[in-house]
Parts: sequence; structure tokens; C-alpha cells
Amino acid sequence: MRLEQSHRTERFGAVRIHELQRVIQLDSGDARGAAGDGIVSQEALRAIERRMVIVIPCMNETRRVIEGVLSGIPHDCLIVLVSNSARHPVDRYEIEAQTLEQYCRATERPAIIVHQRDPGVAAAFKAAGMPELIGDDGLVRTGKGEAMLIGMAVAALTGRDYLGYIDADNYVPGAVHEYVKVYAAGLHLAANPYAMVRISWHSKPKLRDGRLFFSRRGRSSEITNEFLNRLVAEYSGFGTEVIATGNAGEHALSLDLGLRMRLAGGFAVEPFEFVELFEQFGGVLDTAHPEVMASSVPVLQIETRNPHFHDNKGEDHVQGMRMQALNVLYHSPVSLPPVRQAILDFMVAQNAVAPGEEPPRERIYPPVGSLAFDLLRDGLESEAETFRQLGVAPLGARPLPRPTLPEPAVVPTA
Ligand code: GDD
Repeated sequence: MRLEQSHRTERFGAVRIHELQRVIQLDSGDARGAAGDGIVSQEALRAIERRMVIVIPCMNETRRVIEGVLSGIPHDCLIVLVSNSARHPVDRYEIEAQTLEQYCRATERPAIIVHQRDPGVAAAFKAAGMPELIGDDGLVRTGKGEAMLIGMAVAALTGRDYLGYIDADNYVPGAVHEYVKVYAAGLHLAANPYAMVRISWHSKPKLRDGRLFFSRRGRSSEITNEFLNRLVAEYSGFGTEVIATGNAGEHALSLDLGLRMRLAGGFAVEPFEFVELFEQFGGVLDTAHPEVMASSVPVLQIETRNPHFHDNKGEDHVQGMRMQALNVLYHSPVSLPPVRQAILDFMVAQNAVAPGEEPPRERIYPPVGSLAFDLLRDGLESEAETFRQLGVAPLGARPLPRPTLPEPAVVPTA
């Protein structure tokens, strides 16, 4: 793979945000290249893929689409599907589990599947030290961020080093494939234990007056990016458009970084990742991780080539997403007063909050690295009926290896 070279970065303390880089060539052949020229060989890509877990959050997506997504994930990545699909009147989780099992059998690869609302999953997370994840009904709360958190915890149990997220509603297997290749290329090029790669898809096809129109930007991303950039600019004194991936559902990171980060619930999860990096490693607030400050945190933003073609869930859904993003920005202690005021004005203009009201707070969970992983593992294996290891690593024959994890992280509370 050949990526455009990344010349410019914007710094926020130890966080180095790279300007958007395009994919120039999906396959760069035998080109070897030298440091900094954006070329990543097949071997280098595969070396990362072998150490990567791909988490697929999935809620009531169609079987055919899920099959397409699975087919796009490079063979050496370990798949973890976290479902929140309906179990009645039709048990859609069972359909997903069967689909994944057949796929694993046909492709001779392992995978893990679990249902977010399994009482055994709630018990395992509670026992492992994260009761915040559990709602009033005694189960893990619904939400994409919550699914991603479960996925990260399972990824940590596998002993692999990298984690990438892929939505289950992607209609283009080739796009899924490209995203994962880009994760691997970005993580390789970042060459840093605390790295993140975020995808900016090239275009989203829409039907307009009977013609396909390739829209360049997402309706939610534009707003999130604008305010994130204002947050950064308020510190530097210079306007910037460096952040292009505030809402990126498709992104990957090293677990060394991920396990130290708090995650937000629902669709606040992706924008909060930027906020969390600024809070923990931005140099404005105290950090619990001097080792990360010393190393820096590169955030690569990469524009892919395939169109992003996914299920359209409607305007209310997009508006909800937009507001969840702004809620976390508004309440962050690194958001300076002019930015908070601008967010508030925007929300009032959108009728999302009444004049004089404060935006609601989103749920912020402790870092996954603070979990007692032995307890989590025991709980999942013994109590969660839906926690299944599929394929060539059946449960019991080759248990999940126990990783060496950092000491529980000490972080400021939200
Ligand atoms: N397990 C689980 N639990 N999965 C969920 C949940 C949940 O509560 N909610 C949503 N999902 C799954 C969906 O099935 C889909 O695969 C993926 O998460 C994304 O959810 P969508 O509801 O389809 O979101 P979207 O496609 O409108 O938005 C995506 O793109 C945005 C940026 O453009 C998401 O990835 C957003 O997080 C992202 O900001």
C-alpha cells in the first residue's frame, strides 16, 4: 500500500494529529521504500494484521450484509463480533452466530462472538470492576460505545496488540478490506506504541434525482470536526482544519493506547476519543501516564478510496449522533469558554437545548485497562452463555492466552 506522505501535523501537547493523507495505491507491489515515503510492504501489513483484532459492533443488520463484511476482513485478523441484536421473536443473535460459525469453518479461521445484553456478560464486567457499564435492568447498557468497550476488553484477553473497529452495516466488502489494510499501514507507519488511525472515507453514494451522487462529507462529521478544530485553535491561536475524522466509526489503535483511554457510551464514543486524548495527553490537565507523554501519541487520518456505502438510518439518527458529539465537547474541561459558548449557541439554534439549559452529559466509562482481566475472563467463560469461540480454536482446546496488562490506570473522573 502507498499512502500520501504526511508532512504536517498539529500538536496538542503530546498528541500529534496528522493532516489527512490519501491512499495513493492499494497495492504497491514490491516497492520497498524508505522511512517516511508512505510505502508499506505486504509483509509489513501482514505482520500487523496477525497482531490485530477486528471488533464488529452489530445491531440487527441483515445476514447478507454481515457476510459481506466478514469476507472483507484480512485472514490473519481475529474477528470479535459484539451483537446487540434482537433475540425475540426471531433470535437474530443465533443467526449471526451461525453465519459466523459457517464462515469460520469455510475459511479455517477463528472468531469470537458475544451478545452485549447477556446477563453473564454484565456479571463478568461487574466482577471485573466496571459496574458503571450496567444499567438499571442489570444488563450492560445498549449503545455502540458500550459494544466497542466490550470488544476492546475481549481483544485485550486475546493477547494481540492492535484493535480496529468495523461497522456491520457496510455494503461493500472491498471497502472493509481497504479499511483494515489502511489500519495496518497506518499503525506500521506510526511506529509508536501509542498510535491511532482514523479513516475518512472518500465519498458516500446517494441517490439524487435518479442519479448517483458521491457526497464528500458526512452530515454529522462536518459539525463535530468544526467544533473539535475550534477547540484546538483556541489553544494555538491559529485557525485549523486539521481534524477531519471526529466521528470516524472506522478506526484502529494500539491496545497500549486503548487500554489507557476512557470510552464514552453510545455515539459519543468516537468524538470523545479526541477529547480524551486532549484531556489525558494534551498537557493541559495532569496526566496519569508520563510514559505516553514522553513517547507522543500520533493520530493518523487517512482518506480511503472505496465509497462508503452503508445503511441509512435517517435524519433523527444523524441529529442524535451530532448532539452526542457536542455534549462531550461541551463538558470537557479542556474546552475553553468561547468554544463552549459557540457549541451552546449552535445547540440552541438547532432546538436541541432550550435557552438557559445545559447540554446533557454522556456516559464516560473508566479505561478498559482498569479491569481485573482474570475475573473478566473467568466470568465470560463460565457465565456468559453467548460468549463463544468459533473456528479452529474451540472453547477449551486452546483457551484465550492471558496477556500481560498494565497496572490499573489512575485517571481523572469525568
Ligand atoms: N453491539 C451493538 N450495540 N452494535 C451497535 C449498537 C449497539 O447498541 N448500535 C449500533 N450498533 C452497530 C450497528 O449495527 C452498525 O454496525 C454500527 O454499530 C454503526 O451503527 P449505525 O447505527 O449504523 O451508525 P451509522 O452508520 O449511522 O454511523 C456510523 O458512522 C458514523 C460516522 O459517519 C457509526 O460508526 C458512528 O459511530 C460514526 O460516528
